[in-house]
Amino acid sequence: MKTITKAPILFRGGDYNPDQWLDRPDILEKDVEMMKKAGMNTATLGVFAWAKYEPQEGEYDFAWLRETMDRLYAAGIYTELATPCGAKPNWMAKKYPEILRVQANGVTDHQGMRHNACPSSPIYREKVHNIIEKLVEAVGDHPGLILWHISNELGGDCYCPRCQTRFRDWLRDKYKTIDALNHAWWTGFWSHHYNDFDEIEPPFENGEQSLLGLKLDWRRFTTWNMTDYVHSETELLHKLTPNVPITTNLMEYFPGLDYHYLQKELDFVCWDSYPHWGRPDRSITTTFAMTAFDHALIRGCKRDVPFFTMESTPSLVNWHEYNKLKRPGVNRLQGLQTVACGGDGVQYFQWRKGRGGTEQWHGAVVDHDGRDDTRVFKDVTETNAALNALTPVIGSLPRAEAALIFDWDSRWALEDAWGMQIQQKNLRETVCALHEQLGRCGVDADVIGVEESLDRYKVVVLPMLYMVKPGFGEKIRQFVANGGTVIGTYLLGYVNDSTLAWLGGFPGDGLREVFGVTATELDTLYPGERNTAAFPDGSKAAIQDYCELLETTDNTDVLATYGEDFYKGYAVATHHAFGKGHAYYVAARMDADGNAKVFRAAMAQAGCTMQTLPDGVEYHCREDERAVYHFYLNTTETDKTVAVPTGADLLTGKTVSGEVTLGRYGACAVEVVK
Ligand code: GLA
Ligand code: ZN
Repeated sequence: MKTITKAPILFRGGDYNPDQWLDRPDILEKDVEMMKKAGMNTATLGVFAWAKYEPQEGEYDFAWLRETMDRLYAAGIYTELATPCGAKPNWMAKKYPEILRVQANGVTDHQGMRHNACPSSPIYREKVHNIIEKLVEAVGDHPGLILWHISNELGGDCYCPRCQTRFRDWLRDKYKTIDALNHAWWTGFWSHHYNDFDEIEPPFENGEQSLLGLKLDWRRFTTWNMTDYVHSETELLHKLTPNVPITTNLMEYFPGLDYHYLQKELDFVCWDSYPHWGRPDRSITTTFAMTAFDHALIRGCKRDVPFFTMESTPSLVNWHEYNKLKRPGVNRLQGLQTVACGGDGVQYFQWRKGRGGTEQWHGAVVDHDGRDDTRVFKDVTETNAALNALTPVIGSLPRAEAALIFDWDSRWALEDAWGMQIQQKNLRETVCALHEQLGRCGVDADVIGVEESLDRYKVVVLPMLYMVKPGFGEKIRQFVANGGTVIGTYLLGYVNDSTLAWLGGFPGDGLREVFGVTATELDTLYPGERNTAAFPDGSKAAIQDYCELLETTDNTDVLATYGEDFYKGYAVATHHAFGKGHAYYVAARMDADGNAKVFRAAMAQAGCTMQTLPDGVEYHCREDERAVYHFYLNTTETDKTVAVPTGADLLTGKTVSGEVTLGRYGACAVEVVK
């Protein structure tokens, strides 16, 4: 069994802030008793405790931390210890104003809020090192310490003079000559030629917004710079406590950092999961599907190591536009889904509601009433019991026959591009919907970056992969030539790694030959406008938003054609045999039924293990040397009957076989021993 920390547990805990309650020892005593009762086995401590650890520069107090860790450990609860760098103390900002961040409009922040220091500041880094060293001196040897949680939800960029200088140095290092940069950024446009690296400014809000290469490189630099900052923490921690693994809490589809790059500093990844349950414009089933995508995206950052959810809410958050309670059953199913998708733990923000501050109305396991018999407390306890029953799956990994490619650079380039639907390109919705499309056929899919090897997959999907970096075309060509199946969509391969358009027709970098198509033009529809895709069996699918006009080669099979407009009769979905494999292309944003036709055909041809699932039932699969674990989740309020393999349902301990009926938000986890 490959566990992510020394503790062979399925993590069940949450953010615990005793530092806000030090004047209430009665409450602190009770917390640990209640955690036991709720079935918790971990607590995340000290995320924002810097001002308690170091109330004045050079004055420290870790006694309360050690006592808390002792109390927790005595009750069988491990500590995940944060480095407290998510928020700096007031005294520090006052004494060292150069550590304040500068915004994209050039204005320096006042002290306040959190995630608010310049990651380049040598003084800040020195202070961080110092507090980490003191923390390790105080509790680094504690038997309850199982992992480090670096800072909190890293993100944000800083436009201070120091960060600007680092940016220019980073550019010098990358491009070597200013000519190479001018070429990559296409600076002949609007007379934006640079004579020297010193002339370059970051893309200030009221500054240079027209060079897309500059914007992209700023985002890459920001990732590099933040990762360099993280490295300054991880390097020290690895030296001081070599046996304690390191993670940080990522944020699903976060725009600010390329997690495929940042993950290199982490031993395993975690994320904070706050879906919008109960939005009137989105079904719970769709919300679950989006969450499954987010799990796949995050776990794909380190696909051979389990992950877990560092945070989720047991009831509601305080920062959605409308803060709605989770309906009964949803929290349990969300927890089970996390495990089904490869997670080895489910944790909450937070254990106990604080009395003040902006998060005073954020859900917590223990409410202001301090009771352990509330609906939420009971729900968490029941969920923990179900999670505990899933302990045999820990260390196993998702079994995915398919992968979708997602690339932060490509996403940024597409979001910044002036064209198509400028504001609403809907990349996330599209990738999610296609992930769900595979899932509906019972095929669990990874979501991976462009650098990962494709060897283990039968099908690889390139959804709106606008940027194709030189060499990626060759990788896909090899994959297909050797027998793989690839599905590309509209907007594939328009630009290279500098955001320059590929010349000679799209998709670029040699992909036209693989797909047997050339996309010559792109039509963007207004909201409400529709085209149709007409299939040979007479069925039609609706098309919205994007329609590419394709030229096909003689060997390309046309699977469907446009039903309307001047390009009526042009190919909209195609198949092309290439080498030993197959390349499918979908040239328009078709509805789910239309996509299903192409995707099903592709998966069947690729030999994927498909199943027929009732609407609203999700299937996920994990595997280790010992067994295969099949998860069926009913994301609806009506009973659903599913066909299951013969094995033990870990949630009930009973053997199941044939068909199982899952009630409202019900689930089963069938262990089939090898
Ligand atoms: C984030 C943060 C937590 C808390 C929660 C509230 O995930 O990491 O500190 O603010 O949001 O939902
Ligand atoms: Zn800075």
